[in-house]
Amino acid sequence: MDFYIDTANLDDIREIAHWGILKGATTNPTLLSRETGDYSKILQEICSLVGGPVSAEVLSEEAAGMVSEATQLAGLHENIVIKLPMSSEGLRAAGELKKRDIKTNVTLVFSANQALLAATAGATYVSPFVGRLDDIGHDSSVVLSDIVEIFSVNRISTKVIAASIRHPLHVTQAALLGCDIATIPPAVFKKMLKHPLTDIGIESFKRDWEKAQARAQEAVQN
Ligand code: E4P
Repeated sequence: MDFYIDTANLDDIREIAHWGILKGATTNPTLLSRETGDYSKILQEICSLVGGPVSAEVLSEEAAGMVSEATQLAGLHENIVIKLPMSSEGLRAAGELKKRDIKTNVTLVFSANQALLAATAGATYVSPFVGRLDDIGHDSSVVLSDIVEIFSVNRISTKVIAASIRHPLHVTQAALLGCDIATIPPAVFKKMLKHPLTDIGIESFKRDWEKAQARAQEAVQN
């Protein structure tokens, strides 16, 4: 499973990109609205930092408007992927953009049938939102596993991005279920990295090594 970062914050992207594990990024209007500056430049900078697909979302509600926004966004960088809403107009736009060789990510997917429709329309990626499903008391793992299985059984090449990730368990769940990608907020990446036993282990290895060196030094002096 590939890791994408789910933010538009350049400092956070730089920090996690240094770990060498990022394959792409996803943004949305809410995430971009938290940043200051020229959004086109921010998207271009994200593309150069992650060196892989970067989703940028359209705001139009009509297919024609989506396609025109998509054409502009796609012109910003070769790695831009167009995020389209899961709607009849979004599906039409996905089909039209496929004809133009522009990659798409159908977002706000909450059911297996929505994912199937988006894939059939020609979406390159679908983004089921696990956190928002769990928030309303649904079991996101059932929806995710249905999508992964349907795509596998029907030999559908559309990739599944587990999105709306709230905690490290969502990442483990996405990987276990065979999602192609998990798009993860910076704070969750940091939680994935840490374990108290790792910190304790590093400290005790260091302490033991320093003690051994001090003993060796003493032996040389005596
Ligand atoms: C990513 O593609 C989504 O826009 C994002 O994961 C949504 O996350 P949220 O439900 O935490 O807003």
